[in-house]
Amino acid sequence: MVRKVLVTGGAGYIGSHTLVALQEAGFEAVVIDSLCNSSEIALQRVQRITGKPVRFYPGDIRDRRLLDQILTENKIHSVIHFAGLKAVGESSQKPIDYYQSNVAGSLVLLEAMQEAGVKRLVFSSSATVYGSEAPVPYVETLQTGNTSNPYGTSKWMVEQILQDAAAANQELSVALLRYFNPVGAHPSGLIGEDPQGIPNNLLPYIAQVAVGKRKELSIFGDDYPTSDGTCLRDYLHVMDLAIGHVRALEWIEDKVGTEAFNLGTGRGISVLEIVRAFEQASGVPIPYTVAPRRAGDLPAFWADASKAKSELGWVADLGLEQMMVDTWRWQRENPQGYNATHSES
Ligand code: NAD
Ligand code: UD1
Repeated sequence: MVRKVLVTGGAGYIGSHTLVALQEAGFEAVVIDSLCNSSEIALQRVQRITGKPVRFYPGDIRDRRLLDQILTENKIHSVIHFAGLKAVGESSQKPIDYYQSNVAGSLVLLEAMQEAGVKRLVFSSSATVYGSEAPVPYVETLQTGNTSNPYGTSKWMVEQILQDAAAANQELSVALLRYFNPVGAHPSGLIGEDPQGIPNNLLPYIAQVAVGKRKELSIFGDDYPTSDGTCLRDYLHVMDLAIGHVRALEWIEDKVGTEAFNLGTGRGISVLEIVRAFEQASGVPIPYTVAPRRAGDLPAFWADASKAKSELGWVADLGLEQMMVDTWRWQRENPQGYNATHSES
């Protein structure tokens, strides 16, 4: 029997790529998304890539009646929960919006799942839950918390809520996926990351410089205690990350309780290495200046990804070059993101 998966936030960056991986693995996907940070065109493109339909419910996860309807009329087997707000800087300006969407939204989803008897959940967590004091590489057994912004705290809170919920309900099975830095795009060039306004994250910013949308990159600090003075991060290809969700779904099938997994490559790459790799992959020079450090940035962190390998059978296969080539193809072929096109159905 084909298993139906509800994907909250499925029109977003990671959600849309995960839809492709899910459909290719034989799952049927149903999406709820408010489109507050995405476009329905992403879903149309997913259908173009896979040739399979995605059932889409426009709406907010805090709409309990809509969730009840979706869970029952589709006989949902499991849920992947991406929906939420994710801009770190904005979360400090609008903490209530962030807790409302990320924490209250997750609670409404959990209540609806409980009512409908849906017992399996994969949650989008983040390396940010390790906080600012954790030693590298980050390993799942480290204590979490000590987060430095409302976004990070909201992820940490939802992890706590899920642990308590699973402890109380012996049938609940939850995978907490702690992503490191997802980059890249589907190799078709049809879907990718489409930030609204000025990108906060490194790769979308570089890609917009490459197509002439931004003048130059500001590198936030070159005086960190790293090999070249710029920060180290664990960048992983979004298609690898997407497959990680499929593995997690398979893993939770016959488990109970909550389990956390780091999804990263296990390797730290510097900002300057990223700039050079992008230039090499695209053939486009990226002008940059060195700017002051960005508040809240940590000098270096990367994953210990061995648990995902041993338990889920997952490793990040795609290398840095592929991440850059695919980022560039997406940006080059969609310089305005999804905005340039209207409905494609
Ligand atoms: P995204 O913004 O592209 O996707 C999130 C989607 O959720 C969007 O389509 C948005 O419209 C939708 N959404 C937001 N609030 C909603 C609500 N209340 N109801 C219904 N839909 C809603 O972000 P993404 O990069 O794809 O991230 C997906 C998840 O992964 C998020 O939870 C994010 O916090 C988490 N995460 C992302 C990263 C990253 O680097 N991108 C890293 C760690 C964790
Ligand atoms: C940011 C978030 C983090 C989130 C992650 C993935 C912050 C403080 N943290 O992490 O919570 O999980 O995104 O979405 O925002 N950089 C530049 N110039 C730029 C942009 C970035 O030099 O224009 C540097 C940053 O200083 C950092 C590196 O590039 O050293 C990566 O930055 P970014 O892509 O924003 O990811 P993180 O800071 O790791």
